[in-house]
Amino acid sequence: MKTTISVIKADIGSYPGHTRAHPEVLKRAEELLEKAKRNSDIVDYCVTHCGDDLELIMSHTKGTDNGDIHSVTWNVFEECTEIAKSLKLYAAGQDMLKESFSGNVRGMGPGIAEMEFTERTGEPVLVFMMDKTEPGAFNFPIFKTFADPFNTAGLVVDPKLIPGFSFEVWDIEEHKKVMLACPEEMYYLLALIGAKSRYVIKRVFPRANLPENEPVAVVSTEKLSQIAHKYVGKDDPVAVVRAQSGLPAVGEVLEPYSFPFLVSGWMRGSHNGPIMPVSQKYAQCTRFDGPPRALCLGFQINEGKLVGPVDMFDDPAFDKVREECNNIADYMRRHGPFEPHRLPLEHMEYTTLPHVLEKMKDRFSTV
Ligand code: F6R
Ligand code: MG
Ligand code: MG
Repeated sequence: MKTTISVIKADIGSYPGHTRAHPEVLKRAEELLEKAKRNSDIVDYCVTHCGDDLELIMSHTKGTDNGDIHSVTWNVFEECTEIAKSLKLYAAGQDMLKESFSGNVRGMGPGIAEMEFTERTGEPVLVFMMDKTEPGAFNFPIFKTFADPFNTAGLVVDPKLIPGFSFEVWDIEEHKKVMLACPEEMYYLLALIGAKSRYVIKRVFPRANLPENEPVAVVSTEKLSQIAHKYVGKDDPVAVVRAQSGLPAVGEVLEPYSFPFLVSGWMRGSHNGPIMPVSQKYAQCTRFDGPPRALCLGFQINEGKLVGPVDMFDDPAFDKVREECNNIADYMRRHGPFEPHRLPLEHMEYTTLPHVLEKMKDRFSTV
């Protein structure tokens, strides 16, 4: 029997402003997923939020891109949007970009990370959720976990990990993908994924010991602005990572977050800032609508059931990185509207440049 983990999320409205999902919305989502569980549409579920994003973590046996699962999900988002509207929550229905559902939520607005795999005797799964940033924010930690021996001791000391991993990288502008194997092709991989606004790690596959067609990590790569053809908020990605027994250990999956790496997003989706790993309690972006957050819930999978969650960053071991984040946030903020705090023009989600150029058009002279 294979198990599928589907993490599907959407910002369907929040309070105040873009800060966090409302308890009434979370409650309704729970009720609907409880009903789906009773009807055997899903095996198990966990509802949470990361900032203003409603996060549905579901397990089932129907495989990825399954119509039943996607329709359950779409229905949850629709009903929750109604609640958001009735409470006049901010930006109610924001990520519901398409109106008529035709069997799959892909390309409709919500972000999706799904993987199907054969459950091992012990199957730890970590679900990561980020707010106020974009899918490429996962490039750095996923690379570190599966390819950097200075992060993952197992790549050196565990013979099962020495063969390395294959990375499926998407060009999210040209809609193409490429597979790169590490360690041999690490420099090619880095040449691409360092450009994180364009090349994003979509999946990671094992090269030995486990079935090679079953992913061990998957990231949501939806680009809302491309679906809507205008700025509609950042994509706020999610990722699912399997761990242990021939894979990086749980602690090796978390270790990259001990460094406050810079991501783009934050205020108005137009600023670089450090990602702050936080517990559920602090999964809300307040200072300058940020700084961007990473939340991680950990589970053991038991015949499809989600045993957990454990709030993985709820640990004083991550206090130091949070403090560093605050120092970096101060430093970055002092740049105000200057790059590299503010993103370069082509990556800004709110751009006033056309407006400024229009106003100035008769005042420019040739030099
Ligand atoms: C960033 C984000 C917020 C908003 C900002 C302005 O992803 O969600 O920083 O961009 O609060 O929001 P509006 O334009 O809705 O007033
Ligand atoms: Mg929002
Ligand atoms: Mg969000």
